[in-house]
Amino acid sequence: MCGIVGYVGRERSLEVLLGGLKRVEYRGYDSAGVAVIDPSGVLHAAKRAGKLGVLEDALRAHPIPDGATGIAHTRWATHGGPTDGNAHPHLGDDGRLALVHNGIIENFTELKTELLAEGFEFASETDTEVAAVLLGREYRRLGSLVEAFRAVVGRLEGAFTLLAVHQDEPGIVVGARRNSPLVIGLGEGENFLASDVAAFVEHTRKAVAIGQDQIVVIAPDSVTVTDFAGNPAEVEPFDVTWDAAAADKGGWSSFMLKEITEDPTAVADTLLGRVHEGDVRMPELDGVLDGVDRIFFVAAGTAAHAGRLGVYAIEKWARVPVDVEFAHEFRYRDPILTPGTLVVSISQSGETMDTLMAVKYARERGARTLSICNTQGSSIPRESDAALYTHAGPEVAVASTKAFVAQITAIYLLGLELAKLRGTLTAAERQALLVELQAVPGKMLQVLETHERIAELAHWMADTRAVLFLGRHVGYPVALEGALKLKELAYIHAEGFPAGELKHGPIALIEPGIPVFVVVPSPRGDAELHKKVISNIQEIRARGARVIAIAELGDVAVLPFADEVLPIPLAGPFFEPLLAVVPLQIFALELASAKGLDVDQPRNLAKSVTVE
Ligand code: M6R
Repeated sequence: MCGIVGYVGRERSLEVLLGGLKRVEYRGYDSAGVAVIDPSGVLHAAKRAGKLGVLEDALRAHPIPDGATGIAHTRWATHGGPTDGNAHPHLGDDGRLALVHNGIIENFTELKTELLAEGFEFASETDTEVAAVLLGREYRRLGSLVEAFRAVVGRLEGAFTLLAVHQDEPGIVVGARRNSPLVIGLGEGENFLASDVAAFVEHTRKAVAIGQDQIVVIAPDSVTVTDFAGNPAEVEPFDVTWDAAAADKGGWSSFMLKEITEDPTAVADTLLGRVHEGDVRMPELDGVLDGVDRIFFVAAGTAAHAGRLGVYAIEKWARVPVDVEFAHEFRYRDPILTPGTLVVSISQSGETMDTLMAVKYARERGARTLSICNTQGSSIPRESDAALYTHAGPEVAVASTKAFVAQITAIYLLGLELAKLRGTLTAAERQALLVELQAVPGKMLQVLETHERIAELAHWMADTRAVLFLGRHVGYPVALEGALKLKELAYIHAEGFPAGELKHGPIALIEPGIPVFVVVPSPRGDAELHKKVISNIQEIRARGARVIAIAELGDVAVLPFADEVLPIPLAGPFFEPLLAVVPLQIFALELASAKGLDVDQPRNLAKSVTVE
């Protein structure tokens, strides 16, 4: 979704702003724009529908002067189509101020009617232009950009990050946020604002998260943060733990491929420092788990699949009731929340609006909240009572891969911590599980070695129109994830089912030649379950399905019934999903590549969904 960058400092705004937009491109967008105040104090803006390259071409054809202050934006269309006119920045005060926005201004129609009645004119169909025109009106009245900002944010309903510059106050950028992301980057004689740290990490790794309903003013040598009423606000500085190289594609053909190969590191880094003398140690959870008698995971997409695995593991290990819910459903069904309820949100970006709203809802109703998140300084951990960070590093491809395995790792650590607290597993049992978890990265490397074989399979299947995924127990969330990856990357109709559900309906979809991936549990884990899955395979094979089994190395029982076996190393039942998902990630990537599709930025999707 929209990406925002603001800069003040040296006369190199265009380079910083366009470079920043490049780094937040992964969020997904359909137009881009920039506004700069030149050294003589004149505001210039340029914007274009299409990718950043279109804007860059336009700037080459019709250059605007560089300056020391500016703002920039990539837009993901909500109100009004992706056109040049609807792109940001939008102008106010007769072209003397420029504003960019991420979010949705829900009361824009009412505000627009008010402004139209006063004779103001509009050049776009966007909700954002209403904020720009309103800001211009308030600037005229109050004579100060900060004061005008305060007046404007008081009138807006909905979610927004706003940044603005005014040519009469050329040395500052003013920003505000409510429910949408905004982070400050602290430089030497220059400062930055952005929707996420990726936009400025090549210039500085010192950052400050901006809280809910706060206004920030950056100047070359100062940063001021207040609440909407103008009272000084407490800020939380942090150091970004990764550098610009981590967010670069390096020599890889796609970010997604790079990120799949980082699956092992994502697991290993998430474990780092959290296992001590054979037991789990996570001071960040101190106090938040005491007396917990019920857990809800709330998340969306891939993160919800990680949560679904948490249901199996945590109920088994810690003997506490656990449910997983799509965040967007959770708060609309009046769930029973008590002080003993722990609502655990899972989010790579930390900005998914549905998840953020579920967390706020849970807090307001007296539940405790814990955020499992991959992004420092993001909104969801800031809105939660405690945070357990995954350390997957920046995930740029829209399809989540390494963040998923890091989320599962964090959830398992949480389960073991709960089991320790509740005395439901002995120290030896916890240690054995941790040993298994620590062995996962090495085993993932073995799975990654099978890439070529999976690629061949995917390339053969380039014309496939539908694929089914089956799993049981912890194999079921893997099936769901395999189907989601294929849908979003290869635009193929794909469904994941619990294998036991087949006979209750989905088996009607089986027709000769339809590819069905089956996640086969280890026969050494639950022999009964293994037998059941083999018989499910026979049922679909008998109806002509082409079976691709993901099975433990040496599982001979599956061989007579599967057309293809993608082997994974031996692992305990809860650890198989971390291995079994890797071939499915590779398969989706390769099938999309075989179809000539953009695997990093699939159509219609945004990396972080910051609107409801
Ligand atoms: O940033 P989040 O983890 O909160 O994002 C949640 C989903 O939007 C995300 O997992 C989405 O489903 C991915 N595109 C899946 O690959």
